[in-house]
Amino acid sequence: MRVFVTGATGFIGSAIVPELIQAGHQVLGLTRSETGAKSLKAAGAEPHRGSLEDLDSLRAGAAQTDGVIHCAFDHDFTDFVAVCEKDRRAIEALGDALAGSNRPLIITSGTGMGNSVPGEPASEDFFDRNHSNPRKISEITGESVAGRGVNVSVVRLPQVHDTRKQGLITYAVQIAREKKLSAYVGEGLNRWPAAHVLDVARLYRLALEKQQPGSRYNAVAEEGITMKAIAEILGKGLNVPVLSLSPEDAQTHFGWLGMFAAYDMPASSTLTQKRLDWHPAGPTLLADLEAMKYD
Ligand SMILES: NC(=O)c1ccc[n+]([C@@H]2O[C@H](COP(=O)([O-])OP(=O)(O)OC[C@H]3O[C@@H](n4cnc5c(N)ncnc54)[C@H](OP(=O)(O)O)[C@@H]3O)[C@@H](O)[C@H]2O)c1
Repeated sequence: MRVFVTGATGFIGSAIVPELIQAGHQVLGLTRSETGAKSLKAAGAEPHRGSLEDLDSLRAGAAQTDGVIHCAFDHDFTDFVAVCEKDRRAIEALGDALAGSNRPLIITSGTGMGNSVPGEPASEDFFDRNHSNPRKISEITGESVAGRGVNVSVVRLPQVHDTRKQGLITYAVQIAREKKLSAYVGEGLNRWPAAHVLDVARLYRLALEKQQPGSRYNAVAEEGITMKAIAEILGKGLNVPVLSLSPEDAQTHFGWLGMFAAYDMPASSTLTQKRLDWHPAGPTLLADLEAMKYD
């Protein structure tokens, strides 16, 4: 397939590109910059200049391919509602180009959207439309675009990691470094799921190739690692104290990350592993955090 990948220069996208190419697909990768275009060419992909703000560039990219993997996202967490709205417009534009064609559109969401019962792992087959996280708009838009005859699947991500980046934990590392304190909230028993970036890239490819309309996949290798375990590894790596904070103090300590720091969001991938024959091979989140260079 010739595949349009948005976010092709990002952490996850730059793992998806070689995964697709090695499997015999061709990649048209969205990029805003000359640097991005050069890195895409070096990876064997064809660059497509455009942006999330330029909806025609998204439509043009999708129109000339057999399917789309949408991974671009503006990670300005200080105005999260606005950037989620940007994702809504992007998914609608990609849908415009694919409507009625049966060409797959894989969109990206978070595993938290599938948590129904507190403390129970999120499942692929549940979607919380009333979730407090504004990112729910990505899946809501995916559903409305599917209603226009687009073959939409959702890949829900946990904390995606290697030894360089680990999703929201990367921001927790910055905060712990700045404040010389690695914190967790209360007993720190709330859990975040995780998966290695190469396992995640493989899952996107399998979802694309499966082309199962309306499917939702959890790219989860580990159901939940406690925030206390994560904070302890960061404290060791940064050589700073590890401390439990009250929910109020955690808000001040974590800033915008405070809205996620106390979330308990375990997630299962039992159905995903079965449906895609996907078997994550690691390494684990804590192994990558242990192996990371902290200086
Ligand atoms: N990493 C995780 O653990 C994690 C967890 C949950 C969900 N996700 C989601 O997974 C997806 C990929 O995440 P990531 O970690 O790979 O992100 P990332 O490393 O921050 O990369 C973001 C990508 O989006 C592109 N982008 C940003 N703003 C853009 C704009 N205005 N127009 C066009 N392209 C733009 C960037 O391109 P440039 O090179 O031009 O900047 C880059 O390719 C996102 O939807 C993210 O929210 C990630």
